[in-house]
Amino acid sequence: MNRFRLADSDLVMASLTTAAPLAAIGEHVELFTVLEMEPRILLVDGVELNRRVVKATLNAIGAQFIEAMRPSEAYQILKNERIDLVICDMFLPEQNGMEFCRVLKANRATQLLPVLMLTSVQGSEHEVEGLTSGADEYLLQPAHPSVLKARVLSMLRHKAALDSLDEVEGILFTLAQAVEERDKCTSDHCRRLSYFSVELGIRLGLGRNDLLALHRGGYLHDIGKIGIPDSILNKAGELTDDEWRIMRSHVIRGEEICRPMKSLEHVLPIVRHHHEKWDGTGYPDRLKGEEIPLLARILQIADVFDALSSERSYKKALTMDQACRQLEKEAKAGWRDPELVPLFVNMLENEDDESKMSRNLRAIAGVVNES
Ligand SMILES: [Fe+2]
Ligand SMILES: [Fe+2]
Repeated sequence: MNRFRLADSDLVMASLTTAAPLAAIGEHVELFTVLEMEPRILLVDGVELNRRVVKATLNAIGAQFIEAMRPSEAYQILKNERIDLVICDMFLPEQNGMEFCRVLKANRATQLLPVLMLTSVQGSEHEVEGLTSGADEYLLQPAHPSVLKARVLSMLRHKAALDSLDEVEGILFTLAQAVEERDKCTSDHCRRLSYFSVELGIRLGLGRNDLLALHRGGYLHDIGKIGIPDSILNKAGELTDDEWRIMRSHVIRGEEICRPMKSLEHVLPIVRHHHEKWDGTGYPDRLKGEEIPLLARILQIADVFDALSSERSYKKALTMDQACRQLEKEAKAGWRDPELVPLFVNMLENEDDESKMSRNLRAIAGVVNES
């Protein structure tokens, strides 16, 4: 995720500010991925001879091999090292290959890691069992060397493509932070926003995908401001009607930037609708009440609270208490969700139990780290 040099980000930034955003990012990412690719294959097999045979067969593909005798060793390696492909035997000490596979596929950090299962046990029932446990490919040993090589290469190519998607997402986060820095008065705004939104989401009992979307939305909601000129973004006085029109376009631009990424699907409604108002006077679609997606309503409350309680060049920061009262006023005036605002205020006012707060922080970190 952080393998990009600053110059690369600048290059992508330049592409983004000119019209064709994602196609340009895709090209650069593909190039970088190919240049920096050094496949790392984890061999999990209790029998040394088997590991030797696989290494000898795959010698020509120029990969680096990391070996584990048992699943517990493999989990440790996967925690600490970058791995591009796992090749495992169906029969392993401690835990069979199917169980090992299930664990990998159930964990967000490893679910996209391709797994090739090798076995010497004949029978289609084993193949079915191997594949239903989540293995991406299944080969009977001894496999023909060219078949094994072809499968491994195809799996590595697929993994490189997935990685490049991750990289694109990483670049978007970097860009979002660049936007935050351009918007001079919002130091650390995204991180706080993300935190408050996820906190409120946890109290509403939202699932992992929604919490993850809120976390990402905290960083990406204003990414569309990348296309807004500094003269408008940092204007000291009132914006003209035309300037407001340009400023408002950031929600649509942001949605366009994020739309091509499948993993950001749940974030799109947040990016597009975080300036709608409960009474239908917001933008861009003038949605009313519960027509506004819940995640966008949550993020908006956190966004407004953070703006009120932060210092800006043109205003002092309100205290937490003043900011809460202001939020309540805005709910009464019909701008904010009248049920979410009291929940949010209650969350802030009663959050004096530090251990509870840090427990939630850990829960968020769990969601985020596993993403
Ligand atoms: Fe915004
Ligand atoms: Fe914001």
